[in-house]
Amino acid sequence: MTTLQLHSGDDGVALIEINLTDRPMNVLTPELIADLAQAVEQVASSPDIRGAILTSGKPGGFVAGADIKGLLALFDTGPIAPAQGAAVGEAFGRLARRIETCGKPFAAALEGLALGGGLELALACHHRVLVDLPKAVVGLPEVGLGLLPAGGGTQRLPRLIGIEKALGLLLTGRHVRPAEALKLGIVHALAAPGEVVDAARGWLLAQPSAVQPWDAKGFRVPGGVGPTAPHASRSFTAGTTLLAGQTQRNLPAPLAILSCVYEGTQLPLDVGLRLERKYFGRLLADPVARNLMRTMFVNKGRLDKLANRPAGVPLSKVRKLGVLGAGMMGAGVAHVAAGVGIEVVLLDSTLAQAERGKAHAARQLDKAIERKKSTREQADAVLARILPTQDYADLAGCDFVVEAVYESREVKTDVTRRAAAVLPTTVVFGSNTSTLPITGLAQAFDRPADFIGVHFFSPVERMPLIELIRGEQTSDATLARALDLVAQLKKTPIVVNDSRGFFTSRVFGTFVKEGIAMLQEGVLPALIENAARQAGMPVGPLAVVDEVSLDITLKVYAQWQADGVQPPYEPALSIDATRRMVEQLGRKGKAAGAGFYEYPEGGRKFLWPELATHWPPAAQQPAVDELKRRFLTIQALEGARCVEEGVVLDPADADVGSIFGIGYPAWTGGVLSYIESVGLQAFVAQSVQLAERHGERYRPSPWLIARGGRATVSSAPGRGGLNALQISQAKAHPPSSK
Ligand code: NAI
Repeated sequence: MTTLQLHSGDDGVALIEINLTDRPMNVLTPELIADLAQAVEQVASSPDIRGAILTSGKPGGFVAGADIKGLLALFDTGPIAPAQGAAVGEAFGRLARRIETCGKPFAAALEGLALGGGLELALACHHRVLVDLPKAVVGLPEVGLGLLPAGGGTQRLPRLIGIEKALGLLLTGRHVRPAEALKLGIVHALAAPGEVVDAARGWLLAQPSAVQPWDAKGFRVPGGVGPTAPHASRSFTAGTTLLAGQTQRNLPAPLAILSCVYEGTQLPLDVGLRLERKYFGRLLADPVARNLMRTMFVNKGRLDKLANRPAGVPLSKVRKLGVLGAGMMGAGVAHVAAGVGIEVVLLDSTLAQAERGKAHAARQLDKAIERKKSTREQADAVLARILPTQDYADLAGCDFVVEAVYESREVKTDVTRRAAAVLPTTVVFGSNTSTLPITGLAQAFDRPADFIGVHFFSPVERMPLIELIRGEQTSDATLARALDLVAQLKKTPIVVNDSRGFFTSRVFGTFVKEGIAMLQEGVLPALIENAARQAGMPVGPLAVVDEVSLDITLKVYAQWQADGVQPPYEPALSIDATRRMVEQLGRKGKAAGAGFYEYPEGGRKFLWPELATHWPPAAQQPAVDELKRRFLTIQALEGARCVEEGVVLDPADADVGSIFGIGYPAWTGGVLSYIESVGLQAFVAQSVQLAERHGERYRPSPWLIARGGRATVSSAPGRGGLNALQISQAKAHPPSSK
């Protein structure tokens, strides 16, 4: 047995220590399941063993869940059928049931987190002790991957803690800390670090050597568990309502979980477990689950392995970071950098402005202390690392600079020149511009090879993505050092080539413009906003333009037009309505107190009722599904264009960037995975149809049509689409930029 060790002691207690030596965390691989099955038989058949403790041979965690890599590999040869999906969980299901019914008591000694299959393994045991440390969380997060717990989680948890509480965990996938796990009854006891196994042993030694099967082992909920039990019907109503309030509402997993618990708790456990596997199989066969798993996996890979880092450049570490501009973005960058131990020089045009930026960090840290995520001491240490200043001489010795002054080429040029005069020649200069091409900005710096776009998202503290933009002259060494900074800041990078709006703003721009175009067509504003949210976007397009502000949006359009980079496939679309709002109706957005929404003081914003006067609603309104499809398609088309033009070189970057940067719904797997899920050929056909109805911006390019035509052969659904787009790299040509 390579994944665990079984020691049997003189007291008749066997200790089973799980340790996947080739992984940082234990996960449920087929080998581990087979080894555990063998160990359980050894315990069951050995007359000298009175019971067993399941624990981890690794510090820090019990079992972190399913082996996602293994699950994803199932799709390598194409789509899978529901029955095939159901079979995936069979061996684990058998193992859990055998632990439960083998006639000897099993205790789980959880020295750290137990998530997904890890918690299910523990739930199959007769007793659970959890270490009392904040990071020792338990939970069933499968719903976030478009799946349900298929190792008995939907059946044992409701029977153990009641339907109402179990649904609260199953439908949200949230992690539960030790004190709550004890209160809910998920674990029987907490123990101090180092005493968990002893506590489990104490319980075992107090048991008679043979334990009754499942029914008597403590799966008891006052009042029973069936749908006629007290709270049951209320819980299912509450569960359905909970779903209605979430952006995940139209995803298959939450509904499957509700059905599984509803039906399963009316049936004997063994039948419930079979039912659970059937529902699991259906979910696994759905592209949504594959997309969500892939997103998680790709993102994790990026964090772990620094994907796309040029080879041969030694690893670097930023010690002193210059941040130019202490506004919303600069202050956030300074806070995050100081938080990971970097000395920060925060420069603005006046000392008072620079100090205001530092005060932002102080406020955020106070909140962290309130939420018990930091201590006064730690917060003071972070603040001590931020030096507010107006004096460029303080930038001496910085090894990296992030410029975040106003979005104006003139101001940025001036600030860059002044900084360059005092910076060492070894510095990397990054600009946080969101719209100005990097190649042009780099001209203000005497070493354009050391200049790169480092595009953070707002709020910097919360948004995980950083988009690195290579200018035409940016060197490999500069890119590598920027990637190292991203890793130091614990963010996720994507790497793109210079282009109007880079990747994220460019794709997101199509979403916003589509919303305004719909308004111009006479679609009801509330329908537009709701359809976007139902598609899975975090905020409706009209609310977004209000946040960004309508006059800034107009300025960006004007700049692009002046630069000659306004693309031919987006004629005046949406500009008319935006200009009318600003110039005729005096509504510039949220900051000005009036935009597409009204912002009553102290109250909640609501859509401006007079929109109907200026853009009269059409007599016949489109179906919400049609609008959802438009929002997803228009962004996917732009994402594909970015691949075609060589703005994005790694399609996985397009997927990760669209989800973590602009909130493209995670269930799609990202803009390119969405195309793949629909099927390249079907996507092209659907886009052509939309182009006939709504305009040329939907017309798929000859490049995409060519790939769609080939999709029937090359795209075994499940991966072909993405592969087909990947092949495009050979054809990609460098983007033009200024
Ligand atoms: P902001 O207006 O909040 O801050 C700009 C700061 O730059 C102000 O504190 C201002 O005093 C300072 N500044 C202006 N001229 C200066 C000069 N000559 N010398 C020194 N400091 C000067 O703007 P925000 O939102 O922080 O944006 C900054 C940059 O980040 C812009 O390029 C913007 O496009 C980009 N960005 C903004 C995002 C956002 O959501 N706000 C997201 C991503 C990028």
